[in-house]
Amino acid sequence: MSRDIIIDTDPGQDDAVAILLALASPELNVLGITCVAGNVPLARTSHNALQVCELAGRPDMRVFAGCAQPMGRGLVTAEHVHGATGLDGATLPEPQMQIQSEHAVDFIIKSMRQAPIKSITLCPLGPLTNIGTALLKAPDIADRIAQIVLMGGAYFEVGNITPAAEFNIFVDPEAADIVFKSGIDLVVAPLDVTHKALTSKAWITDLRAKNNNVCDAVAGWTDFFERFDSEKYGTHGAPLHDPCVVAYLIAPNLFTGRHINVQIEIQSELTRGMTVADWWRVTDRPANALFLGDIDATGYFNLITERVAQL
Ligand code: BDR
Ligand code: CA
Repeated sequence: MSRDIIIDTDPGQDDAVAILLALASPELNVLGITCVAGNVPLARTSHNALQVCELAGRPDMRVFAGCAQPMGRGLVTAEHVHGATGLDGATLPEPQMQIQSEHAVDFIIKSMRQAPIKSITLCPLGPLTNIGTALLKAPDIADRIAQIVLMGGAYFEVGNITPAAEFNIFVDPEAADIVFKSGIDLVVAPLDVTHKALTSKAWITDLRAKNNNVCDAVAGWTDFFERFDSEKYGTHGAPLHDPCVVAYLIAPNLFTGRHINVQIEIQSELTRGMTVADWWRVTDRPANALFLGDIDATGYFNLITERVAQL
Protein backbone atom coordinates (compact mmCIF):
# COMPACT_ATOMS: atom_id res chain seq x y z
CA MET A 1 0.00 0.00 0.00
CA SER A 2 1.34 3.44 -0.82
CA ARG A 3 1.76 6.17 1.75
CA ASP A 4 -0.27 9.39 1.39
CA ILE A 5 1.89 12.50 1.49
CA ILE A 6 1.62 16.25 0.96
CA ILE A 7 4.81 17.92 -0.29
CA ASP A 8 5.30 21.47 1.03
CA THR A 9 7.98 23.14 -1.06
CA ASP A 10 9.79 26.20 -2.44
CA PRO A 11 11.26 24.94 -5.75
CA GLY A 12 14.37 25.28 -6.02
CA GLN A 13 16.29 22.74 -8.12
CA ASP A 14 16.69 20.26 -5.26
CA ASP A 15 13.00 20.61 -4.36
CA ALA A 16 12.22 19.85 -8.00
CA VAL A 17 14.26 16.63 -7.90
CA ALA A 18 12.47 15.66 -4.67
CA ILE A 19 9.07 16.20 -6.34
CA LEU A 20 10.13 14.13 -9.36
CA LEU A 21 11.40 11.33 -7.11
CA ALA A 22 8.09 11.27 -5.22
CA LEU A 23 5.97 11.29 -8.38
CA ALA A 24 8.08 8.44 -9.79
CA SER A 25 7.72 6.24 -6.71
CA PRO A 26 4.84 3.77 -6.28
CA GLU A 27 5.45 3.68 -2.51
CA LEU A 28 4.11 7.25 -2.30
CA ASN A 29 0.77 8.80 -3.19
CA VAL A 30 1.16 12.57 -3.52
CA LEU A 31 -2.17 14.14 -2.53
CA GLY A 32 -1.07 17.67 -3.41
CA ILE A 33 1.87 20.04 -3.57
CA THR A 34 1.71 23.13 -1.37
CA CYS A 35 4.03 26.02 -2.16
CA VAL A 36 5.67 28.51 0.13
CA ALA A 37 8.00 31.48 -0.31
CA GLY A 38 11.64 30.57 0.28
CA ASN A 39 14.33 30.05 -2.32
CA VAL A 40 12.40 32.53 -4.48
CA PRO A 41 9.14 34.44 -3.84
CA LEU A 42 5.81 32.58 -3.74
CA ALA A 43 4.65 33.47 -7.28
CA ARG A 44 7.81 31.89 -8.61
CA THR A 45 7.82 28.77 -6.37
CA SER A 46 4.19 28.06 -7.37
CA HIS A 47 4.98 28.55 -11.05
CA ASN A 48 7.99 26.26 -10.73
CA ALA A 49 5.95 23.51 -9.05
CA LEU A 50 3.54 23.55 -12.01
CA GLN A 51 6.44 23.24 -14.45
CA VAL A 52 7.88 20.30 -12.53
CA CYS A 53 4.51 18.47 -12.48
CA GLU A 54 4.17 18.93 -16.23
CA LEU A 55 7.74 17.72 -16.75
CA ALA A 56 6.79 14.60 -14.78
CA GLY A 57 3.75 14.07 -17.00
CA ARG A 58 1.40 14.79 -14.09
CA PRO A 59 -0.80 17.74 -15.15
CA ASP A 60 -3.50 16.24 -12.90
CA MET A 61 -1.50 17.03 -9.74
CA ARG A 62 -3.04 19.69 -7.50
CA VAL A 63 -0.69 22.57 -6.70
CA PHE A 64 -1.63 25.14 -4.05
CA ALA A 65 -0.07 28.51 -3.26
CA GLY A 66 0.46 29.23 0.42
CA CYS A 67 2.18 31.88 2.50
CA ALA A 68 4.12 34.64 0.76
CA GLN A 69 5.86 35.86 3.93
CA PRO A 70 7.29 34.19 7.04
CA MET A 71 5.07 34.28 10.14
CA GLY A 72 6.81 37.16 11.88
CA ARG A 73 9.57 38.53 9.66
CA GLY A 74 10.44 39.74 6.19
CA LEU A 75 11.23 37.15 3.53
CA VAL A 76 14.83 36.14 2.82
CA THR A 77 15.36 34.42 -0.56
CA ALA A 78 18.29 32.56 -2.14
CA GLU A 79 18.56 33.59 -5.80
CA HIS A 80 22.32 33.65 -5.27
CA VAL A 81 22.16 29.84 -5.04
CA HIS A 82 19.22 28.91 -7.26
CA GLY A 83 19.28 31.67 -9.90
CA ALA A 84 16.60 34.28 -10.64
CA THR A 85 13.93 31.70 -11.52
CA GLY A 86 14.79 29.25 -8.74
CA LEU A 87 15.08 26.59 -11.44
CA ASP A 88 17.98 27.96 -13.48
CA GLY A 89 19.93 25.28 -15.34
CA ALA A 90 17.12 23.78 -17.44
CA THR A 91 14.60 25.53 -19.66
CA LEU A 92 11.06 24.26 -19.22
CA PRO A 93 7.95 25.34 -21.16
CA GLU A 94 5.48 27.77 -19.60
CA PRO A 95 2.99 25.64 -17.63
CA GLN A 96 -0.55 25.01 -18.89
CA MET A 97 -1.74 23.87 -15.46
CA GLN A 98 -3.37 26.32 -13.07
CA ILE A 99 -2.79 26.87 -9.37
CA GLN A 100 -5.76 25.66 -7.28
CA SER A 101 -7.94 28.44 -5.88
CA GLU A 102 -7.80 27.09 -2.30
CA HIS A 103 -5.01 28.43 -0.05
CA ALA A 104 -2.32 25.83 0.71
CA VAL A 105 -2.85 26.19 4.47
CA ASP A 106 -6.58 25.48 4.10
CA PHE A 107 -5.83 22.48 1.88
CA ILE A 108 -3.50 21.06 4.54
CA ILE A 109 -6.05 21.61 7.32
CA LYS A 110 -8.95 20.17 5.30
CA SER A 111 -6.92 17.15 4.19
CA MET A 112 -5.91 16.33 7.76
CA ARG A 113 -9.46 16.69 9.07
CA GLN A 114 -11.08 14.64 6.29
CA ALA A 115 -8.62 11.75 6.08
CA PRO A 116 -8.41 8.96 8.66
CA ILE A 117 -6.35 9.95 11.67
CA LYS A 118 -2.55 9.68 11.17
CA SER A 119 -2.88 8.64 7.54
CA ILE A 120 -1.14 11.62 5.87
CA THR A 121 2.57 12.46 6.15
CA LEU A 122 3.77 16.03 5.55
CA CYS A 123 7.03 16.54 3.67
CA PRO A 124 8.29 20.11 4.08
CA LEU A 125 11.21 21.01 1.82
CA GLY A 126 11.30 24.75 2.48
CA PRO A 127 10.62 27.25 5.27
CA LEU A 128 7.95 25.89 7.61
CA THR A 129 5.55 28.84 7.21
CA ASN A 130 2.60 26.90 5.74
CA ILE A 131 2.88 24.15 8.35
CA GLY A 132 3.32 26.54 11.30
CA THR A 133 0.37 28.62 10.10
CA ALA A 134 -1.83 25.53 9.71
CA LEU A 135 -0.95 24.36 13.24
CA LEU A 136 -1.70 27.80 14.66
CA LYS A 137 -5.01 28.09 12.82
CA ALA A 138 -6.13 24.51 13.48
CA PRO A 139 -4.31 23.02 16.48
CA ASP A 140 -6.58 19.94 16.29
CA ILE A 141 -4.68 18.68 13.21
CA ALA A 142 -1.48 18.05 15.22
CA ASP A 143 -2.92 14.76 16.50
CA ARG A 144 -4.06 13.78 13.01
CA ILE A 145 -0.73 14.13 11.16
CA ALA A 146 1.00 10.76 10.73
CA GLN A 147 4.51 12.20 10.61
CA ILE A 148 6.45 15.22 9.41
CA VAL A 149 9.63 14.38 7.49
CA LEU A 150 11.44 17.63 6.73
CA MET A 151 14.67 19.04 5.35
CA GLY A 152 16.10 21.66 7.66
CA GLY A 153 18.55 22.49 10.40
CA ALA A 154 22.04 21.28 11.21
CA TYR A 155 24.17 20.32 14.19
CA PHE A 156 27.74 19.44 13.16
CA GLU A 157 27.48 21.46 9.93
CA VAL A 158 25.93 24.39 11.82
CA GLY A 159 24.80 26.80 9.08
CA ASN A 160 24.69 27.54 5.37
CA ILE A 161 22.91 30.92 5.25
CA THR A 162 24.48 32.30 8.44
CA PRO A 163 27.31 30.79 10.49
CA ALA A 164 24.64 29.46 12.86
CA ALA A 165 21.60 28.52 10.78
CA GLU A 166 20.39 26.44 7.87
CA PHE A 167 18.31 28.32 5.26
CA ASN A 168 14.85 26.73 5.72
CA ILE A 169 14.83 27.19 9.49
CA PHE A 170 16.50 30.62 9.32
CA VAL A 171 13.82 32.03 6.99
CA ASP A 172 10.97 31.27 9.39
CA PRO A 173 12.22 30.28 12.85
CA GLU A 174 8.87 31.08 14.48
CA ALA A 175 7.13 28.55 12.23
CA ALA A 176 9.88 26.01 12.90
CA ASP A 177 9.47 26.59 16.64
CA ILE A 178 5.77 25.72 16.39
CA VAL A 179 6.55 22.54 14.45
CA PHE A 180 9.31 21.37 16.80
CA LYS A 181 7.10 21.99 19.85
CA SER A 182 4.01 20.38 18.30
CA GLY A 183 4.51 16.86 19.64
CA ILE A 184 4.12 15.50 16.09
CA ASP A 185 6.37 12.58 15.11
CA LEU A 186 9.28 14.41 13.40
CA VAL A 187 12.07 13.16 11.16
CA VAL A 188 14.69 15.79 10.29
CA ALA A 189 17.17 15.64 7.41
CA PRO A 190 19.69 18.34 8.44
CA LEU A 191 22.79 19.59 6.64
CA ASP A 192 24.73 16.92 8.55
CA VAL A 193 23.18 14.37 6.25
CA THR A 194 22.63 16.42 3.08
CA HIS A 195 26.25 17.58 3.03
CA LYS A 196 27.15 13.89 2.64
CA ALA A 197 24.79 13.64 -0.36
CA LEU A 198 27.14 15.26 -2.85
CA THR A 199 26.46 15.10 -6.58
CA SER A 200 29.31 14.09 -8.86
CA LYS A 201 30.30 14.58 -12.49
CA ALA A 202 29.90 10.82 -12.99
CA TRP A 203 26.31 10.92 -11.73
CA ILE A 204 25.45 13.84 -14.02
CA THR A 205 27.09 12.10 -16.99
CA ASP A 206 25.09 8.96 -16.26
CA LEU A 207 21.86 10.98 -16.14
CA ARG A 208 22.60 12.63 -19.48
CA ALA A 209 23.29 9.22 -21.03
CA LYS A 210 19.70 8.15 -20.34
CA ASN A 211 18.47 10.33 -23.23
CA ASN A 212 15.38 11.22 -21.28
CA ASN A 213 14.10 14.79 -20.91
CA VAL A 214 13.46 14.43 -17.16
CA CYS A 215 17.01 13.18 -16.58
CA ASP A 216 18.32 16.01 -18.76
CA ALA A 217 16.52 18.57 -16.59
CA VAL A 218 17.87 17.01 -13.39
CA ALA A 219 21.39 17.04 -14.87
CA GLY A 220 21.03 20.68 -15.97
CA TRP A 221 19.78 21.83 -12.56
CA THR A 222 22.49 19.91 -10.75
CA ASP A 223 25.18 21.29 -13.00
CA PHE A 224 23.90 24.81 -12.29
CA PHE A 225 24.01 24.85 -8.50
CA GLU A 226 27.04 22.58 -8.34
CA ARG A 227 29.19 25.45 -9.53
CA PHE A 228 28.08 27.70 -6.70
CA ASP A 229 28.26 25.07 -3.98
CA SER A 230 31.58 23.56 -5.06
CA GLU A 231 33.17 26.97 -4.83
CA LYS A 232 31.54 27.66 -1.47
CA TYR A 233 32.39 24.35 0.20
CA GLY A 234 35.54 23.44 -1.70
CA THR A 235 34.01 20.08 -2.64
CA HIS A 236 33.74 18.38 -6.03
CA GLY A 237 29.97 18.04 -5.87
CA ALA A 238 27.05 19.92 -4.37
CA PRO A 239 24.66 18.75 -1.66
CA LEU A 240 21.35 17.51 -3.07
CA HIS A 241 19.32 18.36 0.02
CA ASP A 242 15.59 17.95 -0.42
CA PRO A 243 15.34 14.53 -2.11
CA CYS A 244 16.69 13.12 1.19
CA VAL A 245 13.18 13.58 2.60
CA VAL A 246 11.55 11.54 -0.15
CA ALA A 247 14.34 8.95 -0.18
CA TYR A 248 13.86 8.47 3.57
CA LEU A 249 10.19 7.67 3.00
CA ILE A 250 10.99 5.17 0.24
CA ALA A 251 14.16 3.61 1.68
CA PRO A 252 14.72 4.55 5.35
CA ASN A 253 17.55 2.03 5.53
CA LEU A 254 19.70 4.45 3.54
CA PHE A 255 19.82 6.68 6.63
CA THR A 256 20.82 6.53 10.28
CA GLY A 257 20.11 9.04 13.03
CA ARG A 258 19.33 9.63 16.68
CA HIS A 259 16.13 10.35 18.58
CA ILE A 260 17.03 13.59 20.33
CA ASN A 261 15.68 16.91 21.57
CA VAL A 262 15.84 19.74 19.06
CA GLN A 263 14.87 23.34 19.83
CA ILE A 264 14.83 26.42 17.65
CA GLU A 265 16.57 29.69 18.50
CA ILE A 266 14.08 32.51 17.95
CA GLN A 267 15.43 35.28 20.22
CA SER A 268 19.01 36.00 19.23
CA GLU A 269 19.69 37.88 16.00
CA LEU A 270 23.18 36.36 15.93
CA THR A 271 22.03 32.75 16.04
CA ARG A 272 18.48 33.17 14.70
CA GLY A 273 17.11 29.87 13.36
CA MET A 274 19.81 27.71 14.90
CA THR A 275 18.65 24.14 15.56
CA VAL A 276 19.89 23.46 19.08
CA ALA A 277 20.17 19.69 18.77
CA ASP A 278 21.04 17.64 21.84
CA TRP A 279 23.01 15.12 19.76
CA TRP A 280 25.15 14.04 22.74
CA ARG A 281 22.12 13.86 25.01
CA VAL A 282 23.67 16.19 27.58
CA THR A 283 20.29 17.40 28.85
CA ASP A 284 17.25 15.52 30.09
CA ARG A 285 15.03 17.29 27.57
CA PRO A 286 12.83 14.65 25.96
CA ALA A 287 13.45 13.60 22.37
CA ASN A 288 11.12 15.29 19.89
CA ALA A 289 12.73 14.28 16.59
CA LEU A 290 14.64 11.61 14.75
CA PHE A 291 17.63 13.72 13.65
CA LEU A 292 19.37 12.01 10.73
CA GLY A 293 23.16 12.00 10.69
CA ASP A 294 24.39 9.68 7.97
CA ILE A 295 23.42 8.45 4.51
CA ASP A 296 24.41 5.75 2.05
CA ALA A 297 25.09 8.29 -0.70
CA THR A 298 25.67 5.70 -3.42
CA GLY A 299 22.33 4.05 -2.71
CA TYR A 300 20.67 7.48 -2.62
CA PHE A 301 21.92 8.62 -6.03
CA ASN A 302 21.21 5.22 -7.58
CA LEU A 303 17.64 5.42 -6.28
CA ILE A 304 17.13 8.88 -7.78
CA THR A 305 18.50 7.88 -11.19
CA GLU A 306 16.53 4.64 -11.31
CA ARG A 307 13.26 6.36 -10.44
CA VAL A 308 13.42 9.62 -12.41
CA ALA A 309 14.55 7.74 -15.54
CA GLN A 310 11.15 6.05 -15.49
CA LEU A 311 9.19 9.29 -15.77
C1 BDR B 1 17.59 24.10 1.81
O1 BDR B 1 17.53 25.45 1.39
C2 BDR B 1 17.24 25.53 0.02
O2 BDR B 1 18.20 26.30 -0.61
C3 BDR B 1 17.18 24.12 -0.51
O3 BDR B 1 16.10 23.97 -1.42
C4 BDR B 1 16.98 23.25 0.72
O4 BDR B 1 15.62 23.05 1.00
C5 BDR B 1 19.04 23.76 2.16
O5 BDR B 1 19.49 24.57 3.18
CA1 CA C 1 13.87 23.62 -0.56
